[in-house]
Amino acid sequence: MSIIDLFLTLERAGPGDAESLRWALDVAQTPADARVLDAGCGIGADTGTLIAAVPRGRVVALDAAEPFVDVVAGKYPRAEAVVGDMRAPPAGPYDLIWSAGAVYNLGVGAALAAWRAHLAPGGRVAFSDLRWTGTERPQAVVDYFASEGVTLSDTAALDGEIAQAGWRVIGARWVGRAGWAAYYEPLEAQLANERDNALVEAFKSEINCWKLHGDSFDYRLVVVEPQ
Ligand SMILES: C[S@@+](CC[C@H](N)C(=O)[O-])C[C@H]1O[C@@H](n2cnc3c(N)ncnc32)[C@H](O)[C@@H]1O
Repeated sequence: MSIIDLFLTLERAGPGDAESLRWALDVAQTPADARVLDAGCGIGADTGTLIAAVPRGRVVALDAAEPFVDVVAGKYPRAEAVVGDMRAPPAGPYDLIWSAGAVYNLGVGAALAAWRAHLAPGGRVAFSDLRWTGTERPQAVVDYFASEGVTLSDTAALDGEIAQAGWRVIGARWVGRAGWAAYYEPLEAQLANERDNALVEAFKSEINCWKLHGDSFDYRLVVVEPQ
């Protein structure tokens, strides 16, 4: 089974939940008629919550993976599901650009630079990005993420990247354990049905790393606006 096929069996492709998304919508003061971009929507983990939040608005769900976008189109006819690169979103402008667990593909500065011109006046961007939660740096976590080509940094570094890009933070929190469970519990159940292979082993190691050391890292959820 490929990683795409594996995620097609799930509801989420990364940590997050409706509670933390609703927090971000509240902080961003997203109105009921807002135009919203779900950038890196995956299999539509948050698309339904976004649609419900803007009953008189518009939701564009964008992802580079066509099979994911096909799922979103089937599941959420009210969304405009688009295959494409989130560096160059379909025409907006948007009152909210939401991006759960996908900004790391571009880097925070590059994503914010790409999205600035696509925001409506007064618009906001809300995204989650993986960071250390405190000063604890378990070697097993450092090694695990290094093997994935990821070097974790802390929230001060994230704040610096946002400020450097010319944006201001208007709210920040952690996604928290419920959001990780919402991702990992169905994933773990699905892995139990799969024959062992490198992909299955890699996800099992990732989940194990979180079970052992998950207090030391989390997705930082930030709501930002251009300065
Ligand atoms: C970790 S998943 C998160 C998906 C979804 N937001 C969720 O929380 O379940 C990251 C997603 O970003 C998408 N992605 C990566 N780079 C992209 C790009 N440049 N443009 C659009 N989508 C991209 C991937 O295909 C994947 O679906």
